[in-house]
Amino acid sequence: MSSSLITVSYLASAALFILALGGLSTNDTARRGNLFGMIGMAIAVLVTVIAFVNRNFEILVALMVAGGVIGFVLSRRVQMTQMPELVAILHSLVGLAAVLIGFATFLEPAIEYVGVEKTIHEIEIYIGICIGALTFTGSVIAYGKLSGMIGGAPMMLPARHWLNLALFIAVVVIAVRFVGEPDHDQAMLLLLAMTVIALLFGIHMVAAIGGADMPVVISMLNSYSGWAAAATGFMLSNDLLIVTGALVGSSGAILSYIMCRAMNRHFISVIAGGFGTSGGSSAGPSFEGEVQTIDIPAMAELLNGAKQVMIIPGYGMATAQAQHAVADITRTLINKGIKVRFGIHPVAGRMPGHMNVLLAEAKVPYDIVFEMDEINDDFPDIDVSIVVGANDTVNPLAQEDVDSPISGMPVLEVWKGRTTVVLKRGMAAGYAGVDNPLFVKENTRMLFGDARASLESLAQAL
Ligand code: TAP
Repeated sequence: MSSSLITVSYLASAALFILALGGLSTNDTARRGNLFGMIGMAIAVLVTVIAFVNRNFEILVALMVAGGVIGFVLSRRVQMTQMPELVAILHSLVGLAAVLIGFATFLEPAIEYVGVEKTIHEIEIYIGICIGALTFTGSVIAYGKLSGMIGGAPMMLPARHWLNLALFIAVVVIAVRFVGEPDHDQAMLLLLAMTVIALLFGIHMVAAIGGADMPVVISMLNSYSGWAAAATGFMLSNDLLIVTGALVGSSGAILSYIMCRAMNRHFISVIAGGFGTSGGSSAGPSFEGEVQTIDIPAMAELLNGAKQVMIIPGYGMATAQAQHAVADITRTLINKGIKVRFGIHPVAGRMPGHMNVLLAEAKVPYDIVFEMDEINDDFPDIDVSIVVGANDTVNPLAQEDVDSPISGMPVLEVWKGRTTVVLKRGMAAGYAGVDNPLFVKENTRMLFGDARASLESLAQAL
């Protein structure tokens, strides 16, 4: 394949990836964005295989088929609620690939570099393996936390900041010795030592980040996986991989910034760990007050008398798979002339855009779905707020208790509305493990039970 055809194909892929990112920025264009991304990736893989692979063709095809089959089966089986873990584990694979490619390039370079180029190549290998290794273990720990295999509470080692600093200094010192090391075996040992440190650093970094700050970790690992891919692109001198990695890395960094803003956190403080360390328990409520319940007929009556309704979905809507029941009720209420809107917290659920995806799947019109900032001042005009499996994102303690792990996090101020009905199964805490005094407020009614079952009964009663 001629080099100009490769360049044109790579340019087309890069343009399609940019269009994909643009498409993913709004609900109505997200599907198209995904399609652009898929076409871009198909072109990229095809051209790379045809242009650059000249041996071991059977191994490559066998691995691609095996990987494709695993990916296909996984995508068919995975539940929407498992998407965050899936994303985390996929990031870990990008990190692992960067590590393996780094070692392969070190052991058997495609080109024998000399002079400055050799130094640059060694730095590329070192950085690529370092980012890849910490992305790998960090993502595995994130997977464990999101899937519930590891507790969500932050691991607070004594002198953890000093430990991080010591690991960082060790990586820099080894880098200075590695670059330009003439003895190949010695250089290999140094590379291995740095890899072990980076693997440990990834574990420590993510393990130290607490419950409600996990959204930042996910977007940060997303960003790291991009930079790991970009570093791989440098190692392999592949322009498209550099561009694609940089796109993923920078969009992940922007997402991390957005997540930090949503949580009212400083990025560095989150990375250094330490939030989510105090207060909270999932054993039961630790505040005074009386829980007032409501039954289905009473709730139907309440809604029939309402003029404005706000629905606040949370992680419980995803676990209950209640989005279709929510959409049903929305249609019924709109047909009755009631103004219905949705209020979406930026970190509701377990992944960025989680609620938007579910509501779009259930065909809830986009124009009644609002971000928190757009509707948070409107609660005083709301007759009934329906909280469907949300908890941390509607917790007034974020504003009231400075010692709370979620202190400072902006929340949906549902309690300012006339009546709030909270749908959940019991009094358990949310992801951050913090009790929620909303449940005992004067104007709150609890509708206990699985959200989907409750909403389906409500739809009939309406
Ligand atoms: P959460 O605070 O996690 O609360 C979800 C609530 O849903 C629980 O209290 C649970 O109470 C209820 N629930 C579970 N299954 C249910 C079912 N079948 N029917 C009815 N209710 C059910 O949810 P949230 O308000 O969406 O907040 C999200 C939290 O996750 C935040 O702390 C956020 O920082 C964190 N987080 C977010 C992300 C991203 S990127 N969005 C990533 C990682 C972590 P019961 O058990 O009593 O029913």
